[in-house]
Amino acid sequence: MTMTDQKVIDVQNVNFSYSKTPFLKDISFSVNKGEIFGFLGPSGAGKSTLQKVLTGICTNYEGSATILGVESKDHSKDFYEKIGVDFEFPSLFEKLTARENLKYFASLYSGEKRDIDELLREVGLYEHADKKVSAFSKGMKSRLNFIKSLVHDPEVLFLDEPTSGLDPNNSKIMKDLIRKEKEKGKTIILTTHNMQDATELCDRVVFIVNGQMKALDTPHNFIMSRGAVRVTYTYLENGVERTVSTILSNISCDEILRKLIEENRITSIHSAEPTLNDIFIEITGTHLD
Ligand SMILES: Nc1ncnc2c1ncn2[C@@H]1O[C@H](COP(=O)(O)OP(=O)(O)OP(=O)(O)O)[C@@H](O)[C@H]1O
Ligand SMILES: [Mg+2]
Repeated sequence: MTMTDQKVIDVQNVNFSYSKTPFLKDISFSVNKGEIFGFLGPSGAGKSTLQKVLTGICTNYEGSATILGVESKDHSKDFYEKIGVDFEFPSLFEKLTARENLKYFASLYSGEKRDIDELLREVGLYEHADKKVSAFSKGMKSRLNFIKSLVHDPEVLFLDEPTSGLDPNNSKIMKDLIRKEKEKGKTIILTTHNMQDATELCDRVVFIVNGQMKALDTPHNFIMSRGAVRVTYTYLENGVERTVSTILSNISCDEILRKLIEENRITSIHSAEPTLNDIFIEITGTHLD
């Protein structure tokens, strides 16, 4: 298989506007098979809009956006056999039960389906399978909406804020499931403004602000290439605890630290890398939330 074969998503010079004012500006990137690719940016940046371009919902864009070789705006019906979309806002039938919802959505696809009970079990909803969705909490709806995008076992997944509104336990379950899909070779676009999720899950992330790409790299490269690792140490001086913070590369010439170590007066020492959030602010000048 060549590198070109592995390109599942290819976006070249995409421009899009809802009104006369241009919104998405000159977006270009590609995503390889089996990658988790993150869209990271503050509210209103255009993350969901870009997902709508890629999933054939917003079709009046300029440039090219191909998914599995199909130009998104020219897609035919079977486009949706191969992609799964977990929309930002759950779209479920409130008067139907969880199982009825999944059965209904599965019936819209022609290929092999996944086992509905197993999907329900995986997100902890099996016990609630026969309850009406109207009685579901926000987090339960999010989890159901997520497995709804998996029923037809798609090659490419578009997940828009899948962990939003979930408690830490359910958020972990969701993240494990996303990793499991990646292990199966699925290609995943993950939209988030949670930099922790992006760092944990994504192979690469693109920073989006005001409809523009500001930077694209792996979380590791972002964290290591920008901003220095800091070392913070505390020591006792005349019974009073003092804290000093310095840059890791400076500690070899830190005479105070050398002396404190010799005199065995250090009470604690730790190092901290900048977070993806710090880097985002450094590069874009904007906060994530
Ligand atoms: N259907 C629409 N018609 C007109 N403007 C829209 C429409 N949908 C979104 N917008 C505008 O496009 C901009 C980007 O919205 P989008 O939903 O893509 O942002 P986002 O990055 O996903 O934000 P969030 O993190 O809040 O979900 C916003 O200013 C929004 O008001
Ligand atoms: Mg959004």
